[in-house]
Amino acid sequence: MRRRHSLAVATTAVALNTRYRLGIDGDELYEAGLHHDLAREWESEALVRFSVDEQVEVSDEELAHPVLLHAPVAAVVLERAGMSHAQVLAVRHHTLGSSEMGLMGKALFCADYLEPNRTHLNDEERRLLLQEATIEALCLRVLERAWQWRRSEGKTISRASRAFYRSLMAEERA
Ligand SMILES: [Fe+2]
Ligand SMILES: [Fe+2]
Repeated sequence: MRRRHSLAVATTAVALNTRYRLGIDGDELYEAGLHHDLAREWESEALVRFSVDEQVEVSDEELAHPVLLHAPVAAVVLERAGMSHAQVLAVRHHTLGSSEMGLMGKALFCADYLEPNRTHLNDEERRLLLQEATIEALCLRVLERAWQWRRSEGKTISRASRAFYRSLMAEERA
């Protein structure tokens, strides 16, 4: 299941790279997509222990919701395995988004939401989203949809996501 998702994220991210002419190295992007969730199945306790033992830089939001630690933990594992700075940053911020995530991060973030196995979107919704003119606009729509769902579930919106949204808005205006 996780493998199918990861493969689909890698393929979708590469398609976004082409669609939006992002100019990202396709092999690096594919590889980041393939491995972005490598720690997603770890138990919370293991994620917290790894973060503490390896002094991983994490936010208080991530510590409060340990499943979110799968992003920074994967980034550290991949950095040690020799992945590039761009790949490490993209994986680091794939859950909540960040102004630091770079173009590769944006492609990964959107691909994580859009990949065809995700059942929260139908083909028509996917097609409409892909009509957004820029990857930044696409990230904004993805965030809005994700937040709408979170609100309907009574869940809070993370501070990091809000900051990411504001940084995208600023980029859009620029
Ligand atoms: Fe993830
Ligand atoms: Fe994912």
